[in-house]
Amino acid sequence: MSEKESAALHINALREEIREHNYLYYVLDSPDIPDIEYDRLMRELENLEAQRPELITPNSPTQRVGAEPLAAFQQVKHTVPMLSLNNAFNEQEINDFDQRIKERLDLQIITYVAEPKLDGLAVSLRYEQGQLVQCATRGDGQTGEDVTHNVKTIHSVPLSLRGKVPDILEVRGEVFMPKSGFEKYNQQQIAAGEKAFANPRNAAAGSLRQLDPKITAKRPLSIYIYGLGEISAELEVSTHYELLQVLKEFGLPVCPEIQVVENPEGCLAYYQQLGEKRNALPYEIDGVVFKVNEIALQKRMGFVSRAPRWAIAHKFPAHEELTKILDIDVQVGRTGALTPVARLEPVFVGGVTVTNATLHNQDEIDRKDIRIGDTVIIRRAGDVIPQIVSVVKSRRPKKTQTFHLPERCPICDSDVERDEGEAIVRCMGGLFCSAQQKEAIKHYASRKAMDIDGLGDKLVEQLFDADLIKNVVDLYQLPIADLIKLERMGEKSASNLLQAIEKSKHTTLAHFLYALGIREVGESTARALAEHFKSLPAIMVADLETLQSVSDVGPIVAKHIETFFKQAHNREVVEKLIAAGVNWPAIVVSSAKQALEKKTFVLTGTLSSMGRDEAKAKLQTLGGKVTGSVSKNTNYVIAGSDPGSKVAKAEKLGVKVLDETEFNSLLEHPEEFV
Ligand code: IVH
Repeated sequence: MSEKESAALHINALREEIREHNYLYYVLDSPDIPDIEYDRLMRELENLEAQRPELITPNSPTQRVGAEPLAAFQQVKHTVPMLSLNNAFNEQEINDFDQRIKERLDLQIITYVAEPKLDGLAVSLRYEQGQLVQCATRGDGQTGEDVTHNVKTIHSVPLSLRGKVPDILEVRGEVFMPKSGFEKYNQQQIAAGEKAFANPRNAAAGSLRQLDPKITAKRPLSIYIYGLGEISAELEVSTHYELLQVLKEFGLPVCPEIQVVENPEGCLAYYQQLGEKRNALPYEIDGVVFKVNEIALQKRMGFVSRAPRWAIAHKFPAHEELTKILDIDVQVGRTGALTPVARLEPVFVGGVTVTNATLHNQDEIDRKDIRIGDTVIIRRAGDVIPQIVSVVKSRRPKKTQTFHLPERCPICDSDVERDEGEAIVRCMGGLFCSAQQKEAIKHYASRKAMDIDGLGDKLVEQLFDADLIKNVVDLYQLPIADLIKLERMGEKSASNLLQAIEKSKHTTLAHFLYALGIREVGESTARALAEHFKSLPAIMVADLETLQSVSDVGPIVAKHIETFFKQAHNREVVEKLIAAGVNWPAIVVSSAKQALEKKTFVLTGTLSSMGRDEAKAKLQTLGGKVTGSVSKNTNYVIAGSDPGSKVAKAEKLGVKVLDETEFNSLLEHPEEFV
């Protein structure tokens, strides 16, 4: 065998292996190797191809972002038109749809396939001899645009299919941007003062309609396939559901929520069930689609104009509504950020009444040209905070008022500054600014910080406004006599509050660091700092370089930490807190550290001696890893009172379960448990 032949064999074997992993990951949702190993395989293939460029094929797994930018999109004529769907907005319209079908087919029972109606962009993927050759948008249903280079960058789109597939196979599906990717992308855009997408659907469409595939490749897009276009040989299936299973076997991703249901009752139950699940789904849906399952029956029903008679979309209530901007206020946050907030005429949208919406920053207001008095489209999807999508310019009254962030802090009158490269304007008053003082106390008391039970935002405001606290140190000197004088504060609640404050003194170094509210030091950075330095004084004196040796800490975060501890008043607060009795267990650096290394724990139920976060921190301090679910890799399940199903699962897998007493002795003598 020549060297070239053996290189070709090697390359092909690697490609097959990578394709198989793609299939396991994207279609079956059960990867069998860690990402890092997958990356290694990809790198190996890239290296081999770099040595033998003549062996590169357009559909090699390395070729997702190979193409050069286009000058314009080519038109693609769909050999089988891409249809649209009729909509139903209530139960009656679903009953009518079912009735029409039954009458036309003269049947009493109809089975339907119920699918989520994904909120993205329809595309058609054409495979010839199992290779992806062309991808087109729907366009007007007859002619679309060639977006092949862009669709190829979507990792869940297989570049070649598995098994024996028809010579020509066109499949249709929806390209969408998962919610997590959408939110992350928008946050980055807003922070950089750039344009954000109004909703995940626009995000998907905007990302696919890019002339440069390198831009599309950076957008987190995904796809689910829900139907067929042109096909050269009939598949051996008689129902739509079977068709989807076959497409899945070919390696095409199909939405896992799809179900077969019967009659309108089944359809409506599915609609209800998916509606309840809607917020928890990782992608946006705007309704459900019902399709007659039997393909022979679909053919008998046919089409009217551009929509099939055998399918219908049952839409969910709108996520978007119109309302008016009554005023724009400015809020000052814990880090001094000035955020403009729109006060809205109350409006019911996405299941709740909305009265406020953040406008993020001045750039965002200018770009959207938002003025007081404007009518705007407000959107609230899932648990996401309400957003103003756009202004309805046609409804703009003659007299509107433009808005500009003030040049001084509206709370403390300090200067405001804008960091370079950031869209956020900040008050420079620091802890002189009462807004920042209040927010700092709220943060200090919050659950993931010092976890002071019962000391919520409202009570902090009340204590602050009554001059009982000006900073976090004051919390530890609250006289009960003054507390009782407060409105809605009885003797019992006052003493409960003091008890909770007392209890919070026993904390962990990581919680305490997080509670201090150092800019950019979130929970995980605080934990990494605690684990690395093991003591507070070590962190307080660390220089920039030493700080950056912590995995989570880059130059910006290091600078924030250093600046924080350089301020005399911050050091004073820390000293006073410790003097008031705030304490944490010393982090042991001895062999105990190794003791629980490589041991994995799962916590369940309620422990009487400590909260779950504290238990977790203690295990981590000893080198243990704490995960959320029990698997065969779990070493111990720690069960407090009222444990959930995790104990049963542990028993089934033969994983050892420790009760609270055993857990406490593990913390004391970890070396005995290895
Ligand atoms: S089937 C012949 N199924 O909805 C039927 N469409 O309003 C053609 N869509 O253009 C479409 N999820 O972009 C179908 N599970 C699903 C869908 C779906 C989303 C979109 C698709 C279509 C539009 C029609």
